Amino acid sequence: MRVRIGDADVVCAPGETVLLSALRAGWDLPYECASGGCGSCKAVLAAGDVRSLWPDAPGLSERDRRKGDRVLACQSVPAGEAVVRLPGGAAPQRAASGPGARPVPGRRPARIGAVLQLSPDTALVTVVPDRPVAYLAGQFVLLELPDGTRRAYSMSREPTDAPAGDDCLELVVRRVPGGRASSWLAGAAAGDPLVVEGPYGRAHVRSPADRPVVCVGGGSGLGPVVAVAERCLTESPDRAVRLYYGARTDADVVLADRLLRLQARGARVDVVTDVPPSAEAAGRFAPLAVRGGRVVEAVDADHPGPADLAGHDVYLAGPTPMVDALLASLVRTGRVGADRTFFDRFL
Ligand SMILES: Cc1cc2nc3c(=O)[nH]c(=O)nc-3n(C[C@H](O)[C@H](O)[C@H](O)COP(=O)(O)OP(=O)(O)OC[C@H]3O[C@@H](n4cnc5c(N)ncnc54)[C@H](O)[C@@H]3O)c2cc1C
Ligand code: FES
Repeated sequence: MRVRIGDADVVCAPGETVLLSALRAGWDLPYECASGGCGSCKAVLAAGDVRSLWPDAPGLSERDRRKGDRVLACQSVPAGEAVVRLPGGAAPQRAASGPGARPVPGRRPARIGAVLQLSPDTALVTVVPDRPVAYLAGQFVLLELPDGTRRAYSMSREPTDAPAGDDCLELVVRRVPGGRASSWLAGAAAGDPLVVEGPYGRAHVRSPADRPVVCVGGGSGLGPVVAVAERCLTESPDRAVRLYYGARTDADVVLADRLLRLQARGARVDVVTDVPPSAEAAGRFAPLAVRGGRVVEAVDADHPGPADLAGHDVYLAGPTPMVDALLASLVRTGRVGADRTFFDRFL
């Protein structure tokens, strides 16, 4: 199978999406979620045919569907030869190579290593691929379950944390009631087979060593921002790193040991719970700062001046409303540069 994207001629292995094939061939196509939700990989099908993995994906609007030729590169599998154009006729760019470049994604068989319950609805899921997955802190993979369900999950530790020979991926997974993938993962047993596709994602660590960093994770969005904060301190131990973690209640707080370790390494960690924490919880998590409120308001309250975050890089991950609220309050007001803000919305 072959797809032509502008001037790029890309070979697609059977069943692979246009996005995966193009990234693997070294083209830097636009995308965000790789999951059909955001629409940033939208393209025009100029000739040939593609099959959509998710025909109703919200990444295409009703208007797009009426046009009849709009496709999502992350959901499209070519059926024979196809020609795809990027929006506005933009030419695909060559992906950067060399040190710090994004690793090239691929697909590989994997199995569940372990499922460790961290709270009533959140588990640390270990996935063991048959070959190591090189990734950057902050990136995610798509897990494809035996029934074909595909969902994105972010790696929750920095890659270099792995002891020699430990090539597993660690993911913080919050169970969504009735959710197909998260319910399957919550009930999975060691050895259960699945497929890992990736790594994907642009919200990975890329800050120069001397730049202060603010990370904000909501719910299971804690996973990737912990990995980012750890990586930032590994790269430059004296760097100013501040991590905000938004949870619903103090009973939902997970990975407290990792947060304590981050703080011991010099980061400032703020846990912000929607429901005010009990006095007992404040003691239990000490010396972490735990307070009640919305994490978005906590970030605002701690940085009230228009220039307080100037010069910072900001990493955000978690529920779409939280990430969008932070983008509105930090980026659209000009308090943080758009080119210094890296985010994943868990659509
Ligand atoms: C970049 C990114 C990183 C993420 N990282 C994490 C993480 O680290 N931890 C975590 O807990 N969650 C993460 N998520 C959310 C995760 O991918 C799932 O959405 C979540 O676990 C719920 O999935 P579910 O199958 O259990 O629920 P469901 O309700 O069954 O599905 C959830 C979502 O999947 C999408 N969907 C529905 N049908 C289809 C279909 N046919 N094909 C494809 N998609 C469909 C819809 O957007 C739906 O809202 C991430 C999401 C994104 C985009
Ligand atoms: S990257 Fe394809 S819809 Fe988000």
